[in-house]
Amino acid sequence: MDLQNFEQSLLALQQSAIDELKGVSRREDALQIKNRYLGKKGQVQAQMSVLRELPNEQRRDAGRISNSTKQAIEQAFQKVMSDIAQAELDAKLASEALDVTLPARKPKLHRSHPLVQTEQELIALFAEMGFAVAQGPEIEKDYYNFEALNFPADHPARDMQDTFMIDQQGLLRTHTSPVQIRTMLAYKPPVQIIAPGRVYRVDDDPTHSPVFHQIEGLLVDVGVTMADLKGTLRHFIDRCFGKQTPMRLRPSFFPFTEPSAEVDIGCIFCAQKGCRVCSQTGWLEILGSGMVDPNVFKSCGIDPERYTGFAFGLGVERIAMLKYQISDIRLLFQNDVRFLEQFS
Ligand code: PHE
Repeated sequence: MDLQNFEQSLLALQQSAIDELKGVSRREDALQIKNRYLGKKGQVQAQMSVLRELPNEQRRDAGRISNSTKQAIEQAFQKVMSDIAQAELDAKLASEALDVTLPARKPKLHRSHPLVQTEQELIALFAEMGFAVAQGPEIEKDYYNFEALNFPADHPARDMQDTFMIDQQGLLRTHTSPVQIRTMLAYKPPVQIIAPGRVYRVDDDPTHSPVFHQIEGLLVDVGVTMADLKGTLRHFIDRCFGKQTPMRLRPSFFPFTEPSAEVDIGCIFCAQKGCRVCSQTGWLEILGSGMVDPNVFKSCGIDPERYTGFAFGLGVERIAMLKYQISDIRLLFQNDVRFLEQFS
């Protein structure tokens, strides 16, 4: 063995190590190859044993040669390792690619509940006509809910079958009419208010809910007539259901109004031809109304000889159901987003 042989065999090892490392894609494979050449029992190390056979003056050169082989193999190994790392990074970046030009996902925006929308629209409509908003408690006294409103002591509405009683005097108001009393006790005429709010009745079926919403209207002044009531309601119906909508006042009875009238509109579903919604009558009842009963004025210390007034009470659910053609009142209380999302 001479130096030249030694160099050739090392270069051959170097070449075959580099060839083997080329294109290796797993770290453990690369490490294994490297160890096979550079490990303690590796092929390069094996060649080193022949160093001893070389004459002394050639050993330095031999050392240099073997160092350069080791370096070359180590470099090839490092190159493969960094290629593998780069390939992994490329793959990761490709799989996590972000298109920063994509439009952002829209957040789900709050929308008002259809009942709230309807209530707000009605309040705005009456506010335009000069009605101020008044409020009263939902837990009401029998006095305001019934007695001051001229309900006879034996009136069936006072029965527990209809009213959620709390105790002898306390109850959940069955209508917004007690706000009429509270307002007239607090303010002298002229009075022109609407009172929106929740009311309660022992009732539960597709068209009745134990809690629902009303808007009460009250206008008291000198010289108020039923024509004022009719004109006000006509304007409300024009705005709410359209100018072509027929309207009629149908004689009725409420203890706190005299005369009283229920107000119907021509059925908006069948153009008055008769359908299931209007029970073939061509008419839909939308509210109760009338001229304030003198006894109600007396309960509030207002002189019925000097003042007259009209009042009306409408159901917000009923208006919303007609406007949006909702067939079951319970849909308005179940809070199913698929239902609610239809009202933008
Ligand atoms: N309070 C009545 C009801 O709930 C409606 C009404 C209000 C009628 C005002 C006349 C005047 O049925």
